This record gives sequence, structure tokens and C-alpha cells, in this order.
Amino acid sequence: MGRTLHANSVYAKEISDAMANVTDASIQAAGAAVAKVGTFLWIDTIARIPLVATMMAETPCTDIMGIVIYDLPGRDCAAKASNGELATGSLAKYKSDYIDPIAAAIKAAPNVAVALIIEPDSLPNLVTNANLTTCSSASSDYQSGVAYALETLNLPNVAMYIDAGHGGWLGWDANLQPGADMLTKVYKAAGSPKQVFGISTNVAGWNAWSANPGEFSTASDAQYNKCQDEKRYVNAICPLLNTGGMPNHAIIDTGRNAVQGLRNAWGDWCNVNGAGFGVRPTATTGDPLVDAFVWVKPGGESDGTSDASASRYDSFCGKPDAFSPAPQAGQWNEAYFEMLLKNAKPAFP
Ligand code: BGC
Repeated sequence: MGRTLHANSVYAKEISDAMANVTDASIQAAGAAVAKVGTFLWIDTIARIPLVATMMAETPCTDIMGIVIYDLPGRDCAAKASNGELATGSLAKYKSDYIDPIAAAIKAAPNVAVALIIEPDSLPNLVTNANLTTCSSASSDYQSGVAYALETLNLPNVAMYIDAGHGGWLGWDANLQPGADMLTKVYKAAGSPKQVFGISTNVAGWNAWSANPGEFSTASDAQYNKCQDEKRYVNAICPLLNTGGMPNHAIIDTGRNAVQGLRNAWGDWCNVNGAGFGVRPTATTGDPLVDAFVWVKPGGESDGTSDASASRYDSFCGKPDAFSPAPQAGQWNEAYFEMLLKNAKPAFP
């Protein structure tokens, strides 16, 4: 496509507001450089939908605007930190009050290119966490909701990627085929929309693109997961998608994956301590399956609160490898941002 991922002014303002309270000139300069890096915008509530139009209006034709669709009923069913505003059972509201107005805004700007990541973690949760009541009861809304999103957002200026978790999740031998089956099933239920290009992986995640040996290769159960990095994962699941009849390109979140060896377990997902900004967005990936490395999680925004007495507290955010203190998911954590800066690879000036 040859477009640059748009450095949207919402994230840029979050950073500039934060830098206004910083006295260290080198941090200010590095922060200003991060604000120029293309990063996805999360539409995680109905209230944020007006940003779709304003961000598309500021996107030049050299750029592509990245948007995360993230408001399913019963959201984040296997955790607590990102539980959303729509309860399980509110599929009709998800369609009419969330997806439809987003589609209308995108339709109104047909000359602006948009990349959409569809509902991080949702279908992977149905594959591996169906034993939880919260996930089994959300299953029908998730599948119908994702299918409706794919169908309704299937517009000529849009490239869609359905979220597929990461190598430490659907990469297990036992999860690969069921994972591919779930993705292809929902893609087909949507009528095989033309503008679905494939999957997103490592969204808000920590895995390396390529690491030898793999980060968890000495774990006692390592023999059951051959996807020790995102490259191996993409190259394992994408052929299965192809066999199932689904487009199988991928985009990978490299926003916070500069440093490995920080997590005690592969499933530790919350505010990992010691992390750094990773490879900047680029369409030069060296892998024919991978359309781009992108920044999806805006670095500096929290994954979840570390306050055990707060609502939406998830115990993963209180683990020894999680940064503390941390505010509610999506809120700014200045100390975490400065840590990402310090550990960035490549470094910021
Ligand atoms: C939060 C969202 C937030 C997003 C990006 C998610 O974990 O639940 O509220 O917009 O991260 O920071």
C-alpha cells in the first residue's frame, strides 16, 4: 500500500500534555519524537466515536489511519481490567450505536485509507476460555458482533484485520487449528468480506517478532508450543487460515516488544515491567505474510489498575512482573511511558 501509519493527534496530545509536566529536556525531546510515530486509535467506548471523523479529516493521503474496534458486549471476558460498557446481551446496541455510526463516519470520508483491527482478544478468548461462564455466555454476541463488524465495515477504503491473539496463546499445538477454525468461521459468517486482509497479532503484547532461542523455550511445557515468537506463530496459523478459505496476511504490534525475558509466564499481560518501545511502524517486514509492523497499544496508556481495591482490578496487574502503581486501563501512566522510552529499541533521541 505504501502508506505511512498516521501519527494521530489524540495520542500526540496525550504525550504533549504529559510532557508539559516534565522538566528533563531530553525526556521532552524523546516524548515529542514518540508523538510523531504512527499509532492506532482505540474506539473503546461509544462516546469516542466522533474521533473517527476528526482523525480521518486530519489524515493526509500519504497516510493510513489505524483504528481499533473494541466495544463488544461482555468485553474482555477472561479478565477484568478492560471490561467494557456493553453487557452481554446488548448485541443490538453494539450494532446500532457502535458499529453503524463508525461505518457511517468511514463512508463519509471515502478518500481516506483506514486500517481496522477488529476486537482484540475476543475470538481467541472463545477458543481457550470457553470454560469461563463470562466467555461462554458472551460467545454468541462475540461471534455475531465480529461478523456484523466485518460485514458493515467492508468499505473500499478499509483494510480489516481480525485479532488472533499471539503465539503464546493460539500458538500452542492444541490451539492452532481450533483458532484458525474460529477465525474462518466468523469470517465466512460475515459473507467473506473483500476488505478483510487477515489477522492482527501481539496487540498490546510483548512477544518478539523473531527470537532465537524463543523466550519460553526452556519452560517445562515448551515442547507443546512451536510458536516461540510471532514470526513462527504467523507462519504456523496463516497456512491454516488459507486452507480454511480466509485471507491470511498479518500485521504485528511491535509497540512495546523491545525487551524480552521480563515475564514470569507467557500469559502475563499487564503493564510488564522493564518493557521498551519496539520497532517503529513499517511495511518493510521481510516476511511476505506480514503487511506491516504497527504500533497498536499507545505506549504509556495502562493495561489495568494495580489498585486491588479498585473496580476492574485484575490480579494479573498485581503480579510481581507488573509495573506498579498503575492506573485504570487506558489511563496515562507517566512513569511507565518514561520506562518505555528508556528501554526503546531502536532508541529515541
Ligand atoms: C483499554 C482501553 C484502551 C486501550 C488502549 C485497553 O486495555 O481497555 O480502554 O483504550 O487499552 O490503551
